[in-house]
Amino acid sequence: MDKSPSCTMIETQLSGIYPFIEKDELESKWMPKAYDAHMLLEKGEGPARNTTGWLRLPWELEASGLSEIKETAARINETSDILLVIGIGGSYLGAKAVIELLAPDSGGGLNRTKVIFAGTGLSGAHTQRIMKSLEGKDFSINIISKSGTTTEPSVAFRIFYGLLSERYGNKATQRVYSTTDANSGALLKLSREKGFKTFYIPGDIGGRYSVLTPVGLLPIACAGIDIDALVEGACLAGKEYSVKAPENPVWQYACARQALYDAGKKIEILSAWSPEYRYFGEWWKQLFGESEGKDLRGILPVYLEMTADLHSMGQYVQQGERMMFETFIWTETEDEGVIIPYDDENLDGLNYLAGKSVDYVNLNAMAGTKEAHMDGGVPCIELRTGVVNARCLGALLYFFQLSCAISGLIGGINPFNQPGVEAYKKNMFRLLGKT
Ligand code: PA5
Repeated sequence: MDKSPSCTMIETQLSGIYPFIEKDELESKWMPKAYDAHMLLEKGEGPARNTTGWLRLPWELEASGLSEIKETAARINETSDILLVIGIGGSYLGAKAVIELLAPDSGGGLNRTKVIFAGTGLSGAHTQRIMKSLEGKDFSINIISKSGTTTEPSVAFRIFYGLLSERYGNKATQRVYSTTDANSGALLKLSREKGFKTFYIPGDIGGRYSVLTPVGLLPIACAGIDIDALVEGACLAGKEYSVKAPENPVWQYACARQALYDAGKKIEILSAWSPEYRYFGEWWKQLFGESEGKDLRGILPVYLEMTADLHSMGQYVQQGERMMFETFIWTETEDEGVIIPYDDENLDGLNYLAGKSVDYVNLNAMAGTKEAHMDGGVPCIELRTGVVNARCLGALLYFFQLSCAISGLIGGINPFNQPGVEAYKKNMFRLLGKT
């Protein structure tokens, strides 16, 4: 495990925003608001009442241990080629993000069990593809829903539990693991009636802040990822980012976002420099979009995969309407990685790169892109993290959760509710004839 102290300290570089906003303004106007927001979170007042269990969760987990989750994961690993995780939104994106970053090449698992996801939509064709992928495989199900009533996972569970029962008869119940609220919901009732092994989501932790609860930890542990290290990273980050001072990287990121929004920059682009970040980008989009997009306000979060998207969206970012700022996320690499070879013929003209690593080229692509986008009028924030491993990722998850809560409160909204999500459901239920 990486024990370097720098691993959990995300470095926030703001030099790329000062051509666009005053440094003094950030310190005199926004930092005091960050202080107030941080205190509100810690005291659990206002919108932070009964919604901030995630703030102290890593220490609670460290104290209580993760043995129940690890034992369950070991049982699933022994009995299953596939763990089918059924959930949507905050009940899936955190686990998917971590697994894609730390266990990408093995198709969702470092060991025998491959973790795949269902209930993330309502496409029949996609459901059929998942059914096909289960043919001839031993599988178990982890159904995750805090409310226990969300349509997409409920539909998927009915279908896949049916399949499980066909396959394993009355032993099927032993292959279902449910993760839900401790006090209410249809899934809780179903779990009790059928006798499923059940994990509970603390009442004061909402979906998009729940990756470090059993919602994320059970699938992540099943994929063979070190969840102790993940929690340890979050603990270290929690300590580091509890500091009430303008040097706190969380405050810097949160304040920079709100100052830029105030200056008319309505869109934030998160640019990550490896395809494995794709689902981390989806998790980040949900966290910020669902937390901040309300009351006719809020920064629109957009994720770009670099360098691929420079060849599709790069033109817009460079010369389209000037309404965005960009946050570059750069992670250190462990070693030199892949080296570009020398070629005698040099027909492609690439010998000037011979002996250099692909990551070195990537780093320079990022530096060049940042310079170009700033020249094009796009304020740029840079977040630098240590090598991507479980510990570092735990810290990064905590960094963004705290940044999001502070940013939302500074922006004058409640970052813990999502009243707008109900609108489509009402219409869908009417169209489907739900009584
Ligand atoms: O952040 C949230 O609360 C939501 O995005 C939920 O995670 C999502 O709607 C899924 O809800 P549930 O876990 O109740 O099925």
